[in-house]
Amino acid sequence: MRIDILTLFPKMFNGFLSESIMGKAINNKLVEINLIDFREFSTNKHKKVDDSPYGGGAGMVLSVQPVYDALISIKGYKEALKILVTPQGDRFNQTRAYNLKDEAHIIILCGHYEGYDERIRDLFDIEISIGDYVLTGGEIAAMVLIDAITRVIPNVISNDESHLFDSFNGNLLEHPHYTRPSEFMGKSVPDVLISGNHKLIKEWRLKQSIKRTKERRIDLYHKYKEENGDE
Ligand code: ADE
Repeated sequence: MRIDILTLFPKMFNGFLSESIMGKAINNKLVEINLIDFREFSTNKHKKVDDSPYGGGAGMVLSVQPVYDALISIKGYKEALKILVTPQGDRFNQTRAYNLKDEAHIIILCGHYEGYDERIRDLFDIEISIGDYVLTGGEIAAMVLIDAITRVIPNVISNDESHLFDSFNGNLLEHPHYTRPSEFMGKSVPDVLISGNHKLIKEWRLKQSIKRTKERRIDLYHKYKEENGDE
């Protein structure tokens, strides 16, 4: 998969793209990421990319020209899935991450300022929000998307199956985990996990997942019950 990111702050991505699983995925050529500073495409002599809103009001609006010119400079932009990150978009979730992993080419625009010139919206296929809060810019939202999509690309996580059991798959949160020591400050690991009985362990984990989901995310719990029938 190739991802092009249109941003005014490419340096924000430095650590994100070089460290940990993202860094490895890029090194292993499982994902290719290009950063495009769309300020460079501004035809304004001061390289301005924003202007005051028609009709008045506070704040600045991102202009369409630099975004359009940067977008059409990308090879294969017509066929790519073009995503605008904005608090007004559809809510991002694990299912969307999973579906987006099959795209060959994604382009993401990170906005800044008070908003986008409405004509920018027409250049993009979908709008995605990462939650009901407003960030100073779209870069962190783009990183959230890229991280969640990359980790479900086959071979990115060494145990290829492990992500299938993460929280949110099948509408259940993950069960509790323990590792050594078996006792810490009077708190011990549940006996079943040390029993070696894989059938019992599997049952215990599912039960704990259901319990945890019911306690913490009643919305997901109802979805789980709808799809799986009553416990
Ligand atoms: N840009 C600013 N806030 C955002 C959000 N919540 N989701 C996506 N993009 C954003």
